[in-house]
Amino acid sequence: MPQVTIPRLAEKKASGEPIVMVTAYDFPAARAAERAGVDMVLVGDSGANVVLGYPTTAEVTVDEMLVFARAARRGTETAFLVADLPFGSTEVSDAQAVETAVRFVKEARVDAVKLEGGSPERASRVRAIVEAGIPVVGHVGLTPQTATALGGLRAQGRTDASAERVVREALAVQRAGAFCLVAEAVPTDVAEVLREALDIPVIGIGAGPADGQVLVLHDLLGITEGRTAKFVRRFASLGDAAADGIAAYAAAVRDRSFPGSEHQYAASPEAVEAARRAAGL
Ligand code: KIV
Repeated sequence: MPQVTIPRLAEKKASGEPIVMVTAYDFPAARAAERAGVDMVLVGDSGANVVLGYPTTAEVTVDEMLVFARAARRGTETAFLVADLPFGSTEVSDAQAVETAVRFVKEARVDAVKLEGGSPERASRVRAIVEAGIPVVGHVGLTPQTATALGGLRAQGRTDASAERVVREALAVQRAGAFCLVAEAVPTDVAEVLREALDIPVIGIGAGPADGQVLVLHDLLGITEGRTAKFVRRFASLGDAAADGIAAYAAAVRDRSFPGSEHQYAASPEAVEAARRAAGL
């Protein structure tokens, strides 16, 4: 597979070929995404929830995200690798945002960073990072890092004012230089307006067809427990398969059918005798 580049992603939008993005937070997941031939791998701050077990994404730190990003980089060859800039790492100033983005490029060799929001301050952060030479993916609609301010984890753009805000923010992020935009939990018709109005690809999650799709790996593989968002489709049941596999292992240990002779090493009778002598038996 040829390397996925920003021009290639733009071509996909122009030709109507859907862009596939999936999250990954470690080496084996990035390898699996690579083998599946996805276009983009996102080291999402959703890793805060699905890997680290934090109740919100706001708690994950830059250092934790860098561990994820470095592992995902080692597993990614041709897919375009994007990392989320976590809450608190860009809010103070444009300079802080550039410093954080630079760390992700230098320490994890990501191809681009993603940041949430499209207010004038957030657009200014996007512009500053782009001017530092780092490609940026924007993120509008439901922005989980600031969900409390949005009234919770709920769809955005369902009222006149909210739809107008989503479009205004998306345009601002594009003007600031983002090469791609994630639109999360936005009504399909509003996302369609974004897709038409923007030159850059719009990757939807709960935003209808769009120019591409992104899902959280643990949701699509059925690892996430309990209720998932309306927009999630489970394509596998790995959580159940993992619990079944571990239960079978536990049962085999308890009934002593594991380890079998094929899992054991042999030693010569002399070596065993030497071991007994050394142990004083
Ligand atoms: O953190 C994440 O996984 C994301 C996707 C849901 C787009 O931002």
